[in-house]
Amino acid sequence: MQNVIEVQHLSKSFGNHEVLKDIDFSVNKGEVVCIIGSSGSGKSTLLRCINLLEKPSGGQIIYHGENILDEKHDIHAYRKKLGMVFQQFNLFNNHNVLSNCMVGQVKVIKRSKEDAEKVALKYLKVVGMDQYVNAKPKQLSGGQKQRVAIARALSMEPDVMLFDEPTSALDPEMVGEVLKVMKELAGTGLTMLIVTHEMEFAKEVADRVVFMDKGVIAEEGTPEQIFNNPKEDRTKAFLKRTLS
Ligand SMILES: Nc1ncnc2c1ncn2[C@@H]1O[C@H](COP(=O)(O)OP(=O)(O)OP(=O)(O)O)[C@@H](O)[C@H]1O
Ligand SMILES: [Mg+2]
Repeated sequence: MQNVIEVQHLSKSFGNHEVLKDIDFSVNKGEVVCIIGSSGSGKSTLLRCINLLEKPSGGQIIYHGENILDEKHDIHAYRKKLGMVFQQFNLFNNHNVLSNCMVGQVKVIKRSKEDAEKVALKYLKVVGMDQYVNAKPKQLSGGQKQRVAIARALSMEPDVMLFDEPTSALDPEMVGEVLKVMKELAGTGLTMLIVTHEMEFAKEVADRVVFMDKGVIAEEGTPEQIFNNPKEDRTKAFLKRTLS
């Protein structure tokens, strides 16, 4: 299987607090990987190190066979290939829906406005938001905003999509519409790395589940292995706490 991203011996400290410890981990092409674990276990930090929103303290991130943490590496080219969806949407509030999905394409990957609009409309359709092109974010519900944020990230046609708890800030009745879109995307063969507290979603959609605890990957495996037959005591304890 072909790796999209491979992380080797990754570590991250904030001051003398070591938040990630010697993480080895990879995402394969077309794979959907869900990261689960308690609050503070380092899930967001791992995602933020992968897309270089945080600078790792040590280790390597291998992308297309090259360590992108090498000084000579063009990290801008790398970052363009990663789509990111945050808990808090992070839309541009003064831009309408269509423009939100075009700005990055025009400014970062230098597409013409015409092409950018076509691509934006294509992905707004995928997430069911093509009827809202002229709306401003403040006119949308949380679920709609998150679907626009997903379309915006997809419009950059990334190699891999990273999601950090995309449904955690949503009212319960809006969680389903976002998970449905993500499930459809998973079915298209998109490579996805998803931090989530939605265990049912992880069970149903993930090819692989990674359980993090206190800055390490404590256990990983298929959803079947992790949810129905966990080996590690700390995985069992986490699932017991979360699923009860
Ligand atoms: N910028 C920062 N400065 C200092 N400490 C940080 C910073 N970001 C994260 N941490 C610490 O790193 C640890 C891991 O945080 P992280 O946000 O990665 O956890 P998480 O697994 O995503 O938790 P949650 O489920 O609550 O989102 C926590 O102890 C947190 O306080
Ligand atoms: Mg987090």
